Amino acid sequence: MTAYHDGRFLEIEDCCISPLDRGFLFGDGVYEVMPVWGGRPFRYQAHINRLARSLERAEIKDPYPPERWREVVDGLIERSGLPSPVIYLQVTRGVAPREHVIDDDAAPTVFAMTMPPPNDAAAGVAAITAEDTRWSRCDIKSVSLLPNVLLRRRARDYRAWEAILLRDNCVAEGAASNVFIAAGGVLATPPEGPQLLSGITRGVVIEMAAVCGVGCEQRTVTAAELAAADEIWLTSSTRGIVPVITLDGNRVGAGEPGPLWKRFSDCLADWCE
Ligand code: PDD
Repeated sequence: MTAYHDGRFLEIEDCCISPLDRGFLFGDGVYEVMPVWGGRPFRYQAHINRLARSLERAEIKDPYPPERWREVVDGLIERSGLPSPVIYLQVTRGVAPREHVIDDDAAPTVFAMTMPPPNDAAAGVAAITAEDTRWSRCDIKSVSLLPNVLLRRRARDYRAWEAILLRDNCVAEGAASNVFIAAGGVLATPPEGPQLLSGITRGVVIEMAAVCGVGCEQRTVTAAELAAADEIWLTSSTRGIVPVITLDGNRVGAGEPGPLWKRFSDCLADWCE
């Protein structure tokens, strides 16, 4: 697997990162996951803009100008040997003695790698609902993912793929995805805010809906609406648009991927730029 660390492309096995790195000791960093389809990064600029936003909100200085980020991503795609790798980018606050607050002068650590694309989930997945146990800055794509890991482990224990997270009985997002429901031919997804990540795929689905003339409301979605939806979708860069066919053990709609999902999923690849 190809990697990149602080200015050098190398094999992941040859990558050495200090145990004093803030990412390792504190989970003090941010990341991006960007799919590549047919050699082209999907929504490259949106991902890089979100990385810059996460860095700013985490008060970590962006170590690279835009052209340097492009070189890293293009270099990884070229070296991956895969037609459609997934690119992972991570920036941490750097290497420093273990103090909660450090001098702002530590140089951020940049680490990146390619990953193989995950399995296709077009047959549909099972999901559970769970109380959202995460913090209140879920708009930052932080590498501190312990709650997300625990929530996904809980889903796995129920033989489900994703945990759909509820706050005050309303949907926030999935543990690693955004959530859409379809009811009566109209889509709804929770509005952006600190309770969820502004997903790139979520944004694309909203654009697609506008162009296709399908209603798409960004509004509060209650747990009751989720349970009664005709279709539930999970969106993420790695998987695209994934249909949920059971929720908490109950069938969603007819218990198979719905017609609206098929329509959107079939043309997602055309929305790369
Ligand atoms: N996760 N919400 C959360 C909490 C996520 O972790 C993700 C993506 C999303 C979807 O965002 P996007 O469409 O930009 O990928 C929403 C990635 C894939 C991950 O952590 O691997």
